[in-house]
Amino acid sequence: MRIAAFLLLLATVGMVSAGPIDCKPMLTQYFDACHAGKCVMMAGGGLSSDGVHANFKGNLKVQDGSMRPIDKVNILSSSSYECNANNRYQPFLADKVESISNFNIYPNASIKIDDAMLSLICVEEHGNQFSFKISNLIFSFVMSIRDNCGQINFGENCQTTTPTPTTTSSTTGTPSTVTFELKVTNSWVTGADTFTQYDVIIKNNGAQTINSLVISHENFVPTDKWNIESLPSGDLTLPSYGSIGSGQTFTFGFITKSSTQPKFTVKSSA
Ligand SMILES: *[C@@H]1O[C@H](CO)[C@@H](O)[C@H](O)[C@H]1NC(C)=O
Repeated sequence: MRIAAFLLLLATVGMVSAGPIDCKPMLTQYFDACHAGKCVMMAGGGLSSDGVHANFKGNLKVQDGSMRPIDKVNILSSSSYECNANNRYQPFLADKVESISNFNIYPNASIKIDDAMLSLICVEEHGNQFSFKISNLIFSFVMSIRDNCGQINFGENCQTTTPTPTTTSSTTGTPSTVTFELKVTNSWVTGADTFTQYDVIIKNNGAQTINSLVISHENFVPTDKWNIESLPSGDLTLPSYGSIGSGQTFTFGFITKSSTQPKFTVKSSA
């Protein structure tokens, strides 16, 4: 009897020291590393109850008290597949990478993904691994502390540095005193698309102030534009606040997926 009770006690003690444990103390070293200017790389994966595998990876920094992606966390999934050139189904397609930028780990061991606030689960037997459950998916991840946040090879652009070429072109129209200078200010890859951001500097080389300008264009397919308005005709015009004094410039911007540089021409000015 006494031996049985002793064994039972041992088993109970063993159970107490295993299983779910508090994640908060395990998070401290990663928060400390972020505060000390190090990089925390996070990588994880998960399975849904219907058999979809998903994997994710990203670099984290501390901002407003939570660890969050420096840029984004990329997710690759087994449900993103296509038949490749070798006639094999290729899952985890980097061309179909999705990303989450709203990903926060709080010191209290809550994790917020988009709008869902979840609790991290830690299990003694799993070491420094964190888990969470979101709808029917169970995810786990680990974090690793590095001196610098390098490029993560997980669906990112192969080019190690983002190209920021500055190309310039001038187009003249009527009056020939107006010139357009195009500058590439940024360029990045998201999924299969390469986006290019431009500044267009319109210069009035004439003697009169320009209060109204109608601009026609070629190859202009912006995903976003600012400081310039579209007329019902499709031509562009200065916003109501835009006038260009003699010798002055006016800048508008746009983002495009097209690799062809657009061309602008003055249609009329007053
Ligand atoms: C953890 O902290 C966050 C941010 O302050 C808060 O929104 C969340 O409700 C907290 N979670 C728990 C379980 O207290």
